[in-house]
Amino acid sequence: MLIEKLFLTQFKNYKICSLSFSPKINFIVGNNGNGKTNLLEAISMLCFTKSFLLNSDDECVMLGENYFNIRGEFNNLKHNRKSVQYNYDKSGSEKKILINKELLSKYSEHIGTIPVVILSPKDIVLTTGSPSERRRNFDILISQASPVYLDNLRKYSRTLKQKNSLLKESLQTDSLEKVVDGWNEKLAEYGSQIIKKRLQFTSEMQILMDKIFPELVDNYQPIIKYVNEQMDYENKSDENLQSAFYECLKNNFRDEVSRKLSLAGIQRDDFQFSMIKNGEEFAIRNFASQGEHKTFLIALKLCEFEYLKGNLMRTTEEVPIMLFDDIFSELDGSRISRFAKLVNRYGQVFITTANNGTIMNFNNGGINESSTIKVEYGAASYAN
Ligand SMILES: Nc1ncnc2c1ncn2[C@@H]1O[C@H](COP(=O)(O)OP(=O)(O)OP(=O)(O)O)[C@@H](O)[C@H]1O
Ligand SMILES: [Mg+2]
Repeated sequence: MLIEKLFLTQFKNYKICSLSFSPKINFIVGNNGNGKTNLLEAISMLCFTKSFLLNSDDECVMLGENYFNIRGEFNNLKHNRKSVQYNYDKSGSEKKILINKELLSKYSEHIGTIPVVILSPKDIVLTTGSPSERRRNFDILISQASPVYLDNLRKYSRTLKQKNSLLKESLQTDSLEKVVDGWNEKLAEYGSQIIKKRLQFTSEMQILMDKIFPELVDNYQPIIKYVNEQMDYENKSDENLQSAFYECLKNNFRDEVSRKLSLAGIQRDDFQFSMIKNGEEFAIRNFASQGEHKTFLIALKLCEFEYLKGNLMRTTEEVPIMLFDDIFSELDGSRISRFAKLVNRYGQVFITTANNGTIMNFNNGGINESSTIKVEYGAASYAN
């Protein structure tokens, strides 16, 4: 999908704004605090039904106002048009999303229909932060390609909540064991589906990383591992994954009762990132420089694009939109130019920057088709 037009009313620092975009590269330039990220946030809300920055709807209403509207006009390569409208009114906290003017009742049905990959400064938590950040990021990604995965995640998390609230009640251990066992069976059923998908995802991502990383930088070999402290996923066949998962949950029962908390399961999974440099493998989290973190993240996001595009090829054939928010600050000119060469291969791309030099480095890299939007105090205009 491509976003052709965006209309904003009272969204953050935009009183009223309408914009048309290039189907290829869109630079959004402007000084700090003028509204570049806000534009990407608005686009993300149309695609995900919520903000990628996890801001609440209330926070998105222009200060002193009561409501906001965002509308996007989308089109795809087959010329299937789609209009998405996101309306929010503070009085009554009412949020409405309309697809082609029809009210969307089940938000999950919209996820993945306008695929999008985002990289923003906050994503540094993917390489520096806790496992939950990486799981969240990849869950959003895989869900856009697989509604079944999203459904399994929802079922798993609902079941886990029920199990946890049960563990908090002080029931007799015998009767508790029976009920917990029922929940464990369900967790193993949904969880093993999720693990299978995550394993498959990790191996696809590794292949993509091996291909894309050398295009950005020389002499590094990236590695992604999908791990769980209590279970060795790699050496399980599809058939015995579910039973091994169930056994693992069962083995934790006594400890779970005494701690009143679930201790095992996919909510403890991690995706570990490392790189081999000069023959040594090092964990990115502990040893990478700032520029190496950035390079890894950019490569990861380019691979996410390829993963999503490749998987959607078998179903909707949609091509993801890329949103790159202010990601070039620690990168040297040569890395930006190499990145620019890669970007030509992608579909519609948005790149925000407070620095005109970034656009120059891009042009040195030889980009094909671009448009530049200048943002000044909540007003956007075209610079070319
Ligand atoms: N609800 C709101 N009402 C009015 N203004 C808001 C609201 N929420 C945020 N803003 C303002 O929007 C402005 C622009 O924010 P944005 O994050 O888009 O800037 P930016 O151009 O990306 O800046 P930077 O280069 O520093 O990343 C900020 O000054 C912020 O205070
Ligand atoms: Mg910003």
